[in-house]
Amino acid sequence: MPKIFAMKNSRNVFVLLFVHATLCLERVRWCTVSQQELSKCNDMRKAFAGAGILPPLECTEGASAADCTQMIKDYLADAVTLNGRLIYQAGKEHGLKPVVGEVYDQEIGTSYYAVAVVKKGSNITINSLKGITSCHTGINRTAGWNVPVGYLIDSGRLTAMGCDLPKAVSEYFNASCVPGANSVNYPKSLCQLCKGDLSGQNKCQGNSQEQYYDYSGAFRCLAEDAGAVAFVKHSTVPEYTDGKTLSSWAQNLRSQDFQLLCRDGTTADVTEWRTCHLARIPARAVVVRPDTDGTVVFQLLNQGQQRFNGAGTKFQMFDSTAYGAQNLIFRDSTTELVAITSQNYKAWLGDEYLHAMEGLSCDPNTLPESLNWCVVSTEEIWKCGEMATAFRKKNLKPEIQCISAKTKEECMELIQKKESDVVTLGGADIYTAGKTYGLVPAAGESYSADDNSNAYYAVALVKRNPSNAFTISDLKGKKSCHTGLGRTAGWNIPIGMLMKKGIIKPRDCNIPQAVSEFFSASCVPSANQDNYPSKLCQLCIGDDSGNNKCSASSQERYYSYSGAFRCLAQDSGDVAFVKHSTVFENTDGKNTESWARNLKSSDFQLLCRNGARAEVTQFAQCHLAQVPAQAIMVHPDTNIFAVYGLLDKAQDYFGNDSNGNGFKMFDSSTFQGKNLIFKDSAVEIVPVKERRTYKEWLESEYIESLEGMQTPQCSGSGNKLIQQHLLVTTVVSFLILYQLQDLD
Ligand SMILES: *[C@@H]1O[C@H](CO)[C@@H](O)[C@H](O)[C@H]1NC(C)=O
Ligand SMILES: *[C@@H]1O[C@H](CO)[C@@H](O)[C@H](O)[C@H]1NC(C)=O
Ligand SMILES: *[C@@H]1O[C@H](CO)[C@@H](O)[C@H](O)[C@H]1NC(C)=O
Repeated sequence: MPKIFAMKNSRNVFVLLFVHATLCLERVRWCTVSQQELSKCNDMRKAFAGAGILPPLECTEGASAADCTQMIKDYLADAVTLNGRLIYQAGKEHGLKPVVGEVYDQEIGTSYYAVAVVKKGSNITINSLKGITSCHTGINRTAGWNVPVGYLIDSGRLTAMGCDLPKAVSEYFNASCVPGANSVNYPKSLCQLCKGDLSGQNKCQGNSQEQYYDYSGAFRCLAEDAGAVAFVKHSTVPEYTDGKTLSSWAQNLRSQDFQLLCRDGTTADVTEWRTCHLARIPARAVVVRPDTDGTVVFQLLNQGQQRFNGAGTKFQMFDSTAYGAQNLIFRDSTTELVAITSQNYKAWLGDEYLHAMEGLSCDPNTLPESLNWCVVSTEEIWKCGEMATAFRKKNLKPEIQCISAKTKEECMELIQKKESDVVTLGGADIYTAGKTYGLVPAAGESYSADDNSNAYYAVALVKRNPSNAFTISDLKGKKSCHTGLGRTAGWNIPIGMLMKKGIIKPRDCNIPQAVSEFFSASCVPSANQDNYPSKLCQLCIGDDSGNNKCSASSQERYYSYSGAFRCLAQDSGDVAFVKHSTVFENTDGKNTESWARNLKSSDFQLLCRNGARAEVTQFAQCHLAQVPAQAIMVHPDTNIFAVYGLLDKAQDYFGNDSNGNGFKMFDSSTFQGKNLIFKDSAVEIVPVKERRTYKEWLESEYIESLEGMQTPQCSGSGNKLIQQHLLVTTVVSFLILYQLQDLD
């Protein structure tokens, strides 16, 4: 009952917060990270006190900015100014919030834009960076490393096995210059393009001795054709071209010879950085605890900046020269401080930067020792064991361990409790995993383009008939052909959709009865059991001698995809619920059986959800739902880039085209099973890209059908959910009452 603990905890925390919130209005303890910063802070404290600005400022010392965020969380300090990356970490790990932002020359909240620059004649795009040469301002720098690397990981282009980012980058680009990546821990190719100083010494130093260091250096690396792409900021090209600089290397450079790579795969003029960039870099901001009143902090600083910014006072808030350093407490280029109304770190950072930081959060230090893969059968345990051994032999990280459970649902529960990490799931299970257990997709399967058994659209197929062009709204009273009872394209998706839309309304949860009353007659193979309405089998024809009518086997000639299609083709039914490829597989000479031999695909049409009819070739736009690929599901705290990084590396060795490495990821025959861990028909593990939740993975049409079938009154699992919900609600209300009494 984790909820109960959570309630108790939050009550204790509430009491703590209350005490400290009161204190925090009495003073603001500013966290500083150097002696110079401490001196400036003390001067600021005196200046503010002299001007009667309240609450009083105090200065504390932290070992680093990251240390300061920990101190703030622990109530040892109250405020610190952080850059974007640290705002991300402070927000994500400690729940701290930004309340006051710095403003520079750019628009509010913006430091600058990180861009990727190439030469105009090259046909490089953001999608063709792999294998080319690259120039970076320096290791771990924002525009030169953090943003491009984070962006490439987050978008699924760059994979980092074991979250070893330098290694991943060195394998992604053919060669690079990343000044500062010159210690033994870094792959050699990251320094390969660097130039060193005038005598060729100090190659790859993380300072100006390396001629390709910093913004100007990375751009020079591109301009001199050492690298084919440079990761710099939006102002770099304008600053070093068209005669703007005296540097000899830049004398003849023209800005029009360069262009920017946009995120959507296009390119743009170097002046178009506002719309074509990798990320907007957020301005630095003051962060505080969630319980601190941000308005008070802003008012304090706002009174300060009104008195101590500009001529006439000794203390200057936005100047650090008096202390022999730069950017103390605030960046020296700050023109103004503004209140951050959202007080939300994600909103302050912005989507682009946030995503880059998420990609960058693939960190070897937080990587689990092993990834516990949940499996559900003896055969699957066997294959999982072999997979773990095979991966270990290739030194793939993190290592796999196999955990067995009785059912997929038990796996979901184990993952929710963090007793397991990974499970592969298909359609309806992905829904349960997401909705009930909060799991998210980390990677997906992909099947070959001509594989219609796994990646397909469920469609409603009809005959072309100009005199009777009925639509999806006119299905009532029509005769229907289904692949079989409980099957995805033939039953679950169409019936679920019709129920969700309220077109079929079951009484007393009797779905078969409702379907039999909706259509005038049907063939639903396998609906021949007792207490099923006989109309569901009425159109079925059985085998050649009329036996086995309505059986779920090929003895029923209207069974499965081709059977349901035959039911329509022979005019037994008006509509067939099949997949998009069924019509192509059985017409235009593809099926030589006598009933199909003369059929033409153009004699058939699709019913679209919007009430239109479309040609059978337009299935991508006109379908009932797309059946989703299987996904590798994990706890939301698990780093999905670490999971995908492992599987992507693994498929280099053990994917489909591999031979000679023994183990095969997409083959279960050795283990006497089918579709163990992965589907046998999978050809590749793919990144989730922007489909980060179960809803995005499944898409709304498919979810609608699932929910139609699971209307709470009508399904066992639905009932269970409601009961659980009631139970939780009861427990929570009880706790609240209990707490209120307790506090009195
Ligand atoms: C353009 O791209 C093609 C492949 O996409 C490549 O073969 C060719 O070398 C490229 N041309 C230039 C000038 O980079
Ligand atoms: C760059 O950042 C990584 C990760 O934070 C760190 O391990 C590494 O030491 C840094 N490299 C340099 C040269 O500072
Ligand atoms: C990659 O770099 C090597 C030298 O390090 C070079 O021989 C090769 O042609 C390069 N490949 C590409 C695709 O640029």
